[in-house]
Amino acid sequence: MKLFVDSGIVKEIEALASLGIIDGATTNPSLMAKAGGDPRQILKEICRIVQGPVSGEVVATDYEGMIREGHDIAAIDEHMVVKVPFTRDGVKACKTLSGEGIPVNVTLIFSATQALLAAKVGAAFVSPFIGRLDDIATDGMHVIEEIVEIFDNYEFGTEVLVASVRHPIHIVQAARLGADVCTCPPAVIDQLFKHPLTDIGLEKFLKDWEKSQAVAR
Ligand code: G3P
Repeated sequence: MKLFVDSGIVKEIEALASLGIIDGATTNPSLMAKAGGDPRQILKEICRIVQGPVSGEVVATDYEGMIREGHDIAAIDEHMVVKVPFTRDGVKACKTLSGEGIPVNVTLIFSATQALLAAKVGAAFVSPFIGRLDDIATDGMHVIEEIVEIFDNYEFGTEVLVASVRHPIHIVQAARLGADVCTCPPAVIDQLFKHPLTDIGLEKFLKDWEKSQAVAR
């Protein structure tokens, strides 16, 4: 499973990418607003760092505006993926942009039917927001299970990019279901490195080694 970082903060992305675990990145208008600065420059820098798919989202809500902004985003870097919301105009824009060879990530997906339509218009990725489904007592992972099953039945080339990830168990569940990508906030990725038994075990190894060296001296 590919691991993308969900952030517009270059320093956070750089720190994680240096570990060799990051395959791409996703952003959205909220994350870019939080980052501040010039969005185009930030996206260009993220592309340089991750050297994988980087999603930049349009803010236009009309078809023509999405196409215009989509072309601008695609022109930033060869790694750019154009993110459009799942609306009628977004679906139509996905059809057009995909037809031009521009990879599209259809976002704000909350059902298997939305994912199916996005795949039909050639989306490179669909982004089901599982955390926001869980937030309203709806099983987000069940939607992932349905999407993966449907995409496998019809060999859609569209990748399932699990988004709105809240904790490591979401990542485990997504991987067990065969999702293609998980995009995670840096804080959730950091949690993947933590296990108390690893810390305890390493401390004991080092103490035992130190003891043996003291005896040898
Ligand atoms: O990529 C989508 C993600 O940023 C949304 O996460 O936590 O706002 O639901 P969240």
